[in-house]
Amino acid sequence: MDTMSQPVPESPPAEPAVDPVVFEHVSMAFNGPPVLEDVSFRLGPHETRILLGPAGVGKSVLLKLANGLLRPDSGRIFLFGEEITRMSEEKLLALRIRTGMVFQEGALFDSLTIRDNVGYQLIEQHLPDEVIDKRVRRALRFVELEHTFDMLPSSLSGGMRRRVAIARAIIAKPELLLYDSPTGGLDPVTSHTINELIVKERDVYHTPAILVTHRLQDAFTMATNVFSEATNQMEPLPTGQTHADTTFLVLREGKLVFDGSIRELIHSPDPFLQSFLA
Ligand SMILES: Nc1ncnc2c1ncn2[C@@H]1O[C@H](COP(=O)(O)OP(=O)(O)OP(=O)(O)O)[C@@H](O)[C@H]1O
Ligand SMILES: [Mg+2]
Repeated sequence: MDTMSQPVPESPPAEPAVDPVVFEHVSMAFNGPPVLEDVSFRLGPHETRILLGPAGVGKSVLLKLANGLLRPDSGRIFLFGEEITRMSEEKLLALRIRTGMVFQEGALFDSLTIRDNVGYQLIEQHLPDEVIDKRVRRALRFVELEHTFDMLPSSLSGGMRRRVAIARAIIAKPELLLYDSPTGGLDPVTSHTINELIVKERDVYHTPAILVTHRLQDAFTMATNVFSEATNQMEPLPTGQTHADTTFLVLREGKLVFDGSIRELIHSPDPFLQSFLA
Protein backbone atom coordinates (compact mmCIF):
# COMPACT_ATOMS: atom_id res chain seq x y z
CA MET A 1 0.00 0.00 0.00
CA ASP A 2 1.25 3.41 -0.92
CA THR A 3 1.48 5.09 2.43
CA MET A 4 2.55 8.30 0.76
CA SER A 5 -0.95 8.78 -0.55
CA GLN A 6 -2.45 8.62 2.92
CA PRO A 7 -3.80 11.99 3.95
CA VAL A 8 -1.59 13.62 6.55
CA PRO A 9 -3.60 13.89 9.76
CA GLU A 10 -4.21 17.50 10.48
CA SER A 11 -3.64 18.86 13.92
CA PRO A 12 -6.88 20.24 15.35
CA PRO A 13 -7.27 23.92 14.59
CA ALA A 14 -6.30 26.12 17.52
CA GLU A 15 -9.32 27.49 19.36
CA PRO A 16 -9.64 31.13 18.41
CA ALA A 17 -9.21 33.24 21.52
CA VAL A 18 -12.57 34.61 22.63
CA ASP A 19 -12.95 38.21 23.72
CA PRO A 20 -14.12 37.94 27.35
CA VAL A 21 -16.44 40.97 27.06
CA VAL A 22 -18.08 42.53 24.02
CA PHE A 23 -20.63 45.38 24.05
CA GLU A 24 -22.53 46.10 20.83
CA HIS A 25 -24.60 49.29 20.73
CA VAL A 26 -25.65 48.96 24.36
CA SER A 27 -28.14 51.46 25.80
CA MET A 28 -29.56 51.57 29.29
CA ALA A 29 -31.91 53.90 31.15
CA PHE A 30 -33.54 53.67 34.56
CA ASN A 31 -36.39 56.13 35.07
CA GLY A 32 -35.07 59.06 33.12
CA PRO A 33 -32.67 59.91 30.33
CA PRO A 34 -30.32 57.14 29.16
CA VAL A 35 -27.41 56.37 31.49
CA LEU A 36 -25.55 54.59 28.68
CA GLU A 37 -26.22 55.29 25.01
CA ASP A 38 -25.01 53.19 22.09
CA VAL A 39 -21.88 51.94 23.88
CA SER A 40 -19.70 49.52 21.89
CA PHE A 41 -16.28 48.15 22.85
CA ARG A 42 -14.47 44.88 23.32
CA LEU A 43 -12.10 43.52 25.93
CA GLY A 44 -9.46 41.28 24.34
CA PRO A 45 -8.27 38.01 25.93
CA HIS A 46 -5.20 39.52 27.60
CA GLU A 47 -6.30 43.09 27.96
CA THR A 48 -6.86 45.47 30.83
CA ARG A 49 -9.27 48.25 29.95
CA ILE A 50 -9.34 51.25 32.24
CA LEU A 51 -12.68 52.99 32.33
CA LEU A 52 -12.61 56.68 33.19
CA GLY A 53 -15.33 59.28 33.43
CA PRO A 54 -16.94 61.83 35.72
CA ALA A 55 -19.09 60.76 38.69
CA GLY A 56 -22.52 59.41 37.83
CA VAL A 57 -21.69 58.82 34.16
CA GLY A 58 -22.52 55.10 34.22
CA LYS A 59 -19.21 53.39 34.99
CA SER A 60 -20.62 51.09 37.67
CA VAL A 61 -23.65 50.39 35.50
CA LEU A 62 -21.35 49.34 32.65
CA LEU A 63 -19.49 46.88 34.91
CA LYS A 64 -22.74 45.40 36.21
CA LEU A 65 -23.97 45.00 32.63
CA ALA A 66 -20.73 43.17 31.75
CA ASN A 67 -21.45 40.29 34.15
CA GLY A 68 -25.21 40.38 33.80
CA LEU A 69 -26.08 41.93 37.18
CA LEU A 70 -28.05 44.43 35.08
CA ARG A 71 -29.68 43.89 31.66
CA PRO A 72 -29.53 46.51 28.91
CA ASP A 73 -32.60 48.04 27.27
CA SER A 74 -31.10 47.52 23.83
CA GLY A 75 -27.92 46.29 22.17
CA ARG A 76 -26.06 43.05 22.80
CA ILE A 77 -23.55 41.99 25.45
CA PHE A 78 -21.30 38.93 25.16
CA LEU A 79 -19.52 37.35 28.12
CA PHE A 80 -16.89 34.73 27.26
CA GLY A 81 -18.32 34.62 23.74
CA GLU A 82 -21.91 33.94 24.81
CA GLU A 83 -24.64 36.48 24.40
CA ILE A 84 -25.99 37.23 27.88
CA THR A 85 -28.45 39.96 26.92
CA ARG A 86 -31.50 37.77 27.37
CA MET A 87 -29.90 34.67 28.91
CA SER A 88 -31.72 32.83 31.70
CA GLU A 89 -30.52 33.69 35.21
CA GLU A 90 -29.43 30.08 35.73
CA LYS A 91 -27.18 30.01 32.65
CA LEU A 92 -25.88 33.45 33.48
CA LEU A 93 -24.89 32.33 36.97
CA ALA A 94 -22.64 29.68 35.47
CA LEU A 95 -20.84 32.38 33.47
CA ARG A 96 -20.77 34.93 36.28
CA ILE A 97 -19.05 32.42 38.54
CA ARG A 98 -16.10 32.58 36.13
CA THR A 99 -15.71 36.29 36.85
CA GLY A 100 -14.44 38.14 39.91
CA MET A 101 -15.80 41.53 40.90
CA VAL A 102 -14.45 44.07 43.35
CA PHE A 103 -17.48 46.23 44.16
CA GLN A 104 -17.19 49.98 44.59
CA GLU A 105 -18.43 49.71 48.15
CA GLY A 106 -16.04 46.86 49.00
CA ALA A 107 -19.11 44.99 50.22
CA LEU A 108 -17.71 42.68 52.89
CA PHE A 109 -20.11 40.95 55.26
CA ASP A 110 -19.53 42.57 58.67
CA SER A 111 -20.58 39.53 60.68
CA LEU A 112 -18.38 37.04 58.81
CA THR A 113 -14.67 36.46 59.41
CA ILE A 114 -12.18 37.36 56.71
CA ARG A 115 -11.87 33.62 56.00
CA ASP A 116 -15.61 33.34 55.37
CA ASN A 117 -15.75 36.59 53.39
CA VAL A 118 -12.91 35.55 51.08
CA GLY A 119 -14.11 31.94 50.82
CA TYR A 120 -17.77 32.86 50.37
CA GLN A 121 -18.10 31.50 46.85
CA LEU A 122 -16.37 28.22 47.80
CA ILE A 123 -18.57 27.85 50.90
CA GLU A 124 -21.64 28.25 48.66
CA GLN A 125 -20.26 25.43 46.52
CA HIS A 126 -19.98 23.23 49.66
CA LEU A 127 -16.28 22.52 49.17
CA PRO A 128 -14.57 20.75 52.09
CA ASP A 129 -13.38 23.09 54.86
CA GLU A 130 -9.72 22.22 54.46
CA VAL A 131 -9.86 23.00 50.72
CA ILE A 132 -11.50 26.34 51.47
CA ASP A 133 -8.93 27.14 54.17
CA LYS A 134 -6.05 26.40 51.83
CA ARG A 135 -7.43 28.49 49.00
CA VAL A 136 -8.39 31.38 51.28
CA ARG A 137 -4.87 31.40 52.71
CA ARG A 138 -3.38 31.44 49.22
CA ALA A 139 -5.62 34.34 48.15
CA LEU A 140 -4.85 36.24 51.37
CA ARG A 141 -1.14 35.62 50.85
CA PHE A 142 -1.44 37.20 47.40
CA VAL A 143 -2.75 40.41 48.99
CA GLU A 144 -0.29 40.02 51.93
CA LEU A 145 -3.00 39.69 54.56
CA GLU A 146 -2.72 36.08 55.67
CA HIS A 147 -2.67 37.14 59.32
CA THR A 148 -6.25 38.49 59.06
CA PHE A 149 -7.72 35.00 58.43
CA ASP A 150 -9.73 34.84 61.70
CA MET A 151 -10.46 38.56 62.05
CA LEU A 152 -13.68 40.45 61.41
CA PRO A 153 -13.81 43.23 58.78
CA SER A 154 -14.43 45.85 61.50
CA SER A 155 -10.89 45.39 62.83
CA LEU A 156 -9.33 46.14 59.42
CA SER A 157 -8.52 49.52 57.86
CA GLY A 158 -10.29 50.68 54.70
CA GLY A 159 -7.27 49.76 52.58
CA MET A 160 -7.04 46.30 54.13
CA ARG A 161 -10.74 45.72 53.51
CA ARG A 162 -10.21 46.64 49.87
CA ARG A 163 -7.36 44.11 49.69
CA VAL A 164 -9.66 41.46 51.21
CA ALA A 165 -12.21 42.31 48.50
CA ILE A 166 -9.49 41.67 45.89
CA ALA A 167 -8.63 38.33 47.55
CA ARG A 168 -12.31 37.39 47.38
CA ALA A 169 -12.51 38.35 43.71
CA ILE A 170 -9.49 36.22 42.72
CA ILE A 171 -10.08 33.17 44.90
CA ALA A 172 -11.77 31.07 42.23
CA LYS A 173 -9.13 31.91 39.59
CA PRO A 174 -11.49 34.08 37.54
CA GLU A 175 -11.19 34.41 33.78
CA LEU A 176 -12.26 38.05 34.01
CA LEU A 177 -11.86 40.67 36.73
CA LEU A 178 -14.09 43.69 37.16
CA TYR A 179 -12.69 46.31 39.53
CA ASP A 180 -15.03 49.15 40.49
CA SER A 181 -13.05 52.13 41.82
CA PRO A 182 -10.79 49.95 43.99
CA THR A 183 -8.86 52.97 45.32
CA GLY A 184 -11.93 55.18 45.87
CA GLY A 185 -11.73 57.00 49.21
CA LEU A 186 -8.22 55.77 49.98
CA ASP A 187 -5.13 57.87 50.66
CA PRO A 188 -2.33 57.96 48.03
CA VAL A 189 -0.05 55.52 49.85
CA THR A 190 -2.80 52.91 50.32
CA SER A 191 -3.94 53.50 46.73
CA HIS A 192 -0.41 52.70 45.60
CA THR A 193 -0.59 49.35 47.44
CA ILE A 194 -3.91 48.52 45.77
CA ASN A 195 -2.61 49.53 42.32
CA GLU A 196 0.43 47.35 42.86
CA LEU A 197 -1.81 44.36 43.63
CA ILE A 198 -3.85 44.95 40.51
CA VAL A 199 -0.72 45.22 38.37
CA LYS A 200 0.59 42.06 40.07
CA GLU A 201 -2.61 40.22 39.19
CA ARG A 202 -2.37 41.46 35.62
CA ASP A 203 1.28 40.53 35.15
CA VAL A 204 1.39 37.27 37.14
CA TYR A 205 -1.96 35.69 36.21
CA HIS A 206 -2.72 37.69 33.02
CA THR A 207 -6.42 37.81 33.81
CA PRO A 208 -8.29 40.18 31.50
CA ALA A 209 -9.86 43.03 33.41
CA ILE A 210 -11.99 46.14 33.28
CA LEU A 211 -10.97 48.65 35.90
CA VAL A 212 -12.99 51.70 36.80
CA THR A 213 -11.14 54.52 38.45
CA HIS A 214 -11.70 58.17 39.31
CA ARG A 215 -8.02 58.74 39.76
CA LEU A 216 -6.08 59.55 36.61
CA GLN A 217 -2.93 58.84 38.59
CA ASP A 218 -4.04 55.21 39.03
CA ALA A 219 -4.73 54.91 35.34
CA PHE A 220 -1.27 56.17 34.43
CA THR A 221 0.32 53.92 37.04
CA MET A 222 -1.35 50.88 35.43
CA ALA A 223 -0.18 51.89 31.98
CA THR A 224 3.43 52.69 32.86
CA ASN A 225 4.40 49.98 35.36
CA VAL A 226 4.95 46.22 35.39
CA PHE A 227 5.15 43.78 38.26
CA SER A 228 8.54 42.19 38.76
CA GLU A 229 8.39 38.73 40.33
CA ALA A 230 12.14 38.98 40.92
CA THR A 231 11.82 41.95 43.25
CA ASN A 232 8.18 41.26 44.23
CA GLN A 233 7.21 44.82 43.48
CA MET A 234 5.84 47.08 40.81
CA GLU A 235 8.49 48.79 38.71
CA PRO A 236 8.24 51.57 36.14
CA LEU A 237 8.66 50.68 32.48
CA PRO A 238 11.57 52.41 30.75
CA THR A 239 10.78 56.03 29.95
CA GLY A 240 8.50 56.34 26.94
CA GLN A 241 7.26 52.73 27.13
CA THR A 242 3.72 51.80 28.08
CA HIS A 243 1.99 48.50 28.81
CA ALA A 244 0.66 47.49 25.38
CA ASP A 245 -2.34 45.55 26.67
CA THR A 246 -3.58 48.26 29.03
CA THR A 247 -5.87 50.64 27.17
CA PHE A 248 -8.48 53.24 28.00
CA LEU A 249 -12.18 53.91 27.67
CA VAL A 250 -13.71 57.26 28.60
CA LEU A 251 -17.43 57.80 29.21
CA ARG A 252 -19.08 61.19 28.97
CA GLU A 253 -22.80 61.74 29.44
CA GLY A 254 -23.49 58.07 28.74
CA LYS A 255 -21.45 57.95 25.55
CA LEU A 256 -18.10 56.32 25.00
CA VAL A 257 -16.02 59.26 23.78
CA PHE A 258 -12.61 57.56 23.77
CA ASP A 259 -11.25 54.06 23.14
CA GLY A 260 -7.50 53.77 22.74
CA SER A 261 -4.00 53.86 24.18
CA ILE A 262 -2.64 56.18 26.83
CA ARG A 263 -0.58 57.92 24.19
CA GLU A 264 -3.66 58.59 22.05
CA LEU A 265 -5.51 59.78 25.15
CA ILE A 266 -2.81 62.24 26.17
CA HIS A 267 -2.49 63.60 22.63
CA SER A 268 -6.19 63.77 21.88
CA PRO A 269 -7.23 67.24 20.67
CA ASP A 270 -10.75 66.68 22.09
CA PRO A 271 -11.45 69.63 24.46
CA PHE A 272 -13.44 67.43 26.89
CA LEU A 273 -10.59 64.92 27.14
CA GLN A 274 -8.07 67.71 27.50
CA SER A 275 -10.01 69.29 30.36
CA PHE A 276 -10.62 65.87 31.91
CA LEU A 277 -6.88 65.17 31.89
CA ALA A 278 -5.90 68.64 33.09
N1 LIG B 1 -30.17 50.40 40.12
C1 LIG B 1 -30.36 51.66 39.73
N2 LIG B 1 -31.59 52.21 39.68
C2 LIG B 1 -31.79 53.48 39.28
N3 LIG B 1 -30.80 54.29 38.88
C3 LIG B 1 -29.55 53.82 38.90
C4 LIG B 1 -29.26 52.47 39.32
N4 LIG B 1 -27.93 52.28 39.22
C5 LIG B 1 -27.42 53.43 38.75
N5 LIG B 1 -28.38 54.34 38.56
C6 LIG B 1 -28.18 55.70 38.04
O1 LIG B 1 -27.36 55.60 36.88
C7 LIG B 1 -26.46 56.69 36.83
C8 LIG B 1 -25.04 56.15 36.69
O2 LIG B 1 -24.69 55.51 37.89
P1 LIG B 1 -23.29 54.79 38.11
O3 LIG B 1 -23.35 54.24 39.49
O4 LIG B 1 -23.01 53.85 37.02
O5 LIG B 1 -22.29 56.02 38.03
P2 LIG B 1 -20.69 55.99 38.15
O6 LIG B 1 -20.12 56.49 36.88
O7 LIG B 1 -20.26 54.66 38.63
O8 LIG B 1 -20.48 57.10 39.29
P3 LIG B 1 -19.35 57.18 40.43
O9 LIG B 1 -18.14 57.73 39.73
O10 LIG B 1 -19.92 58.16 41.41
O11 LIG B 1 -19.15 55.83 41.00
C9 LIG B 1 -26.68 57.51 38.07
O12 LIG B 1 -27.52 58.61 37.73
C10 LIG B 1 -27.40 56.56 39.01
O13 LIG B 1 -28.24 57.26 39.87
MG1 LIG C 1 -19.54 53.97 40.36
